[in-house]
Amino acid sequence: MKVTKICCIGAGYVGGPTMAIIAQKCPQIQVTVVDLNAERIAAWNDEDVNNIPIYEPGLSEIVKEARGRNLFFSTEVDAAIDAADMIFISVNTPTKTYGKGKGMAADLKYIELCARQIARVSKSNKIVVEKSTLPVRTAEAIKSILDNTGNGVKFQILSNPEFLAEGTAVQDLLQPDRILIGGDTTEEGQKAIQALVEVYANWVPENKILTTNVWSSELSKLTANAFLAQRISSINAMSELCEKTGADVNEVARAIGMDSRIGPKFLKASVGFGGSCFQKDILNLVYIAKSYGLHEVADYWEQVIIMNDHQKRRFSGNIVKTLYNTVSDKKIAFLGWAFKKDTNDTRESAAIYVADDLINENATLAIYDPKVSHKKVLADLDYLETRATSVNAERVQSFGNPYQACEGAHAVAVLTEWDEFVTYDWQKIYEAMQKPAFVFDGRNILDKTSLEKIGFVYQAIGS
Ligand code: NAD
Ligand code: UDX
Repeated sequence: MKVTKICCIGAGYVGGPTMAIIAQKCPQIQVTVVDLNAERIAAWNDEDVNNIPIYEPGLSEIVKEARGRNLFFSTEVDAAIDAADMIFISVNTPTKTYGKGKGMAADLKYIELCARQIARVSKSNKIVVEKSTLPVRTAEAIKSILDNTGNGVKFQILSNPEFLAEGTAVQDLLQPDRILIGGDTTEEGQKAIQALVEVYANWVPENKILTTNVWSSELSKLTANAFLAQRISSINAMSELCEKTGADVNEVARAIGMDSRIGPKFLKASVGFGGSCFQKDILNLVYIAKSYGLHEVADYWEQVIIMNDHQKRRFSGNIVKTLYNTVSDKKIAFLGWAFKKDTNDTRESAAIYVADDLINENATLAIYDPKVSHKKVLADLDYLETRATSVNAERVQSFGNPYQACEGAHAVAVLTEWDEFVTYDWQKIYEAMQKPAFVFDGRNILDKTSLEKIGFVYQAIGS
């Protein structure tokens, strides 16, 4: 079967970029991305492509090329489902905030709503692709909803998890390490797998397209994120030991990373990992293991999260301790609020939790991030519900210029590894700060020797 019309439900960080690349690489396929969020769709359709809702290097150029040709953004969900022969579900699957599994399990309400809508609207056979990250065996629930419509329409369900990382999404999509497609072992299942293989084969070498059964595919996604996050918690655990022993975590990371069995990636010690995926997916894994009675497995993976929470708290605690055990009414400048560089996404950013701790100590914060607005900073803090929103508004200011943010500050904390931070005139920053002037580098990106030469008291993670 040749796919000619694709619908993607969910125009977020995954749906938007993924479909933009499919549209760019498959001009023969019409791709419609739909979302309930009218504001988000309007931003995707903004005449000025610089205003699309997601910042990713290289993305606006691709949207410019394909939008209106074979890439469309719309709120007409029913119409797009009806017209498509392949439907990607790319909606959010956040951690549950209520009921059974609260704080751990993935909330599948949006997935189920999509399945019910597809079941209600479809008049012809369709391939439904799970693009969202889902607990293993979710396809079973989707299948049960789709197969009980009584209208004779046949559905095949595939799992095709997305491995892109934010900030490098375009590159990751253009040159993926692998594409994973899980499907039924039946003849129809294999045909559906082949239809999706042919879409990717427009730009991905076939030896990088891996096909498995549905359950392996679903579980591989959670496993990949758990392994990646585990490496960060492992090196962060070592960073604390380095600080006690005189070892330097960057040197340790380099030394172990040269062992080809370990490899150099994901060994950068930091203030802690953030982002919408790692914590959510590991908690989900822990919940699944517990639900099968596998308590040792659950405890093993939960430790990755415990270590990460500890690292964030340790960072803020160290700022307070170093500033003579009080930050009350002291100004701390934050360089960075996004959870990593080259994205405007702040979900689960370490900066939010460090800020929350420092506001509890009555600090005042001056934030600069090249891609995050003050509105977003306040919304992130208010979401924690630690205190009245008016207190957050009083204690936190944002600046459009890093030098202004640092003016009069007692300390600068680097929370995101934006490249531009390295190129600043640190002499100028030093002159405008209170003395002694402290730098707490939560990303280990600045040069200790040159900062100390200027006069800063410099502290990095793990040295
Ligand atoms: P997101 O919140 O940015 O986007 C999801 C979108 O789905 C939202 O715009 C929401 O309005 C829309 N939506 C929800 N229910 C809908 C419905 N019934 N009909 C129409 N639209 C609906 O989320 P995201 O970051 O794109 O993540 C989506 C999924 O992909 C999640 O399962 C996530 O775990 C997974 N994932 C994310 C990343 C990442 O880097 N962000 C990477 C790999 C996988
Ligand atoms: C992650 C996975 O990498 C990706 O494959 C998956 O599809 C979605 O989740 P993402 O969260 O977008 O991607 O970014 P990633 O580069 O993995 O970084 C996650 C967090 O870990 C960031 O806060 C980053 O700064 C931090 N990190 C990463 C470290 O602290 N040290 C490292 O060595 C690497």
